[in-house]
Amino acid sequence: MLHAMIMAGGGGTRFWPRSRSKRPKQFLTFSGNRTLLQSTVDRVSAQIPPERTWVVTGAQYADETAAQLPELPRDHIIGEPEGRDTAPCVGLGAAIIAKADPDATIAVMPADHVIEPEQEFRRALHAAEQFLADEPNKLITFGIRPTFPSTGYGYIKRGAAAGTRQGVTASQVEVFREKPEFSVAEQYVASGEYDWNSGIFVWKPGAILGELKARKPDIHAVVAKIADAWGTPEFDAVFRGTYNQAEKKSIDYAVMQDAAKEGKVLVLAAPYTWDDVGSWLALERRNPQDANHNTVQANHCGIDTNKCVIVGEPKTVIATYGVSNLLVIQDGDAILVADRKHEDKVKEIVDALKKSN
Ligand code: GDD
Ligand code: MG
Repeated sequence: MLHAMIMAGGGGTRFWPRSRSKRPKQFLTFSGNRTLLQSTVDRVSAQIPPERTWVVTGAQYADETAAQLPELPRDHIIGEPEGRDTAPCVGLGAAIIAKADPDATIAVMPADHVIEPEQEFRRALHAAEQFLADEPNKLITFGIRPTFPSTGYGYIKRGAAAGTRQGVTASQVEVFREKPEFSVAEQYVASGEYDWNSGIFVWKPGAILGELKARKPDIHAVVAKIADAWGTPEFDAVFRGTYNQAEKKSIDYAVMQDAAKEGKVLVLAAPYTWDDVGSWLALERRNPQDANHNTVQANHCGIDTNKCVIVGEPKTVIATYGVSNLLVIQDGDAILVADRKHEDKVKEIVDALKKSN
């Protein structure tokens, strides 16, 4: 059966000051009235019921996660004592889900993506399940046609055709290269042979755990030990006592790059549009602009103000005069004013503030 495993452990520091350590990105609402976390569950709920939905998040966020997703069994919210990046996270999720359902297939999904249309996403998951029914040891990724040479994504080189299911085509992955430098990303995009890795994976627990065991035996040993204790009274103590020994590594570096070299990775052409809600300019892509190209979610009065993203609470009036290309973000007792070209560097402010406090 298909299970959803949602990874919701990142800090989302590029959304300061709205995201603070107590309120990371997955708990925020960027359009409509559901948070990113809730939208991630909603997207697949027609296909994957709460009994097969899991969230791996920080222990400090477990209560808020349960409050936002009251339909989930409480023991499906796995609260890590500390974030160790995605390799331990997906390994632990796979090991626990395999205990709950030995015949599981897992769709691993970050909690910070916007995907449309949702039924096309479900069709892609259905296709992945069918590919795995024939080749259960494959690791499945979803490729997005790149629109600019991002250095924040993984790149996938499409190789030989590997069939079609549900109208979704698969290719062998020839190269998986995580976060290349800019000049390499430029070449990849210009070649037309590469997709972005969307960060969503589908696999059988046995396949990903086998890869992890072969490539990162220490991480595998840690997650296997914790999963063994799952469902027993010792679980919390074992989790707290063991998880911080797992090497901090993302699954892209720990497994995907090398597994691709051995022909173990498939890429499905995503039949949907995808946006990684990574920083404030994502708000501009997700919402309409005013006549001067401003994106405003605030009590705002602007004169001669152009191409700004302005966000604030209703109780605060934000006034701007004669400015353009700014991010102006008010939340609680903090205000961010930054040039829009530095959108991906907002996290440096968070680091600087931590040091000065
Ligand atoms: N539970 C948990 N614990 N979740 C985590 C942890 C952790 O320690 N670290 C990261 N996550 C979650 C993040 O919250 C996010 O939802 C997801 O895992 C991916 O982590 P990111 O840190 O956002 O990864 P990335 O964006 O740099 O790169 C990945 O995603 C790109 C697409 O968005 C890679 O898979 C790239 O190849 C891919 O292009
Ligand atoms: Mg990300």
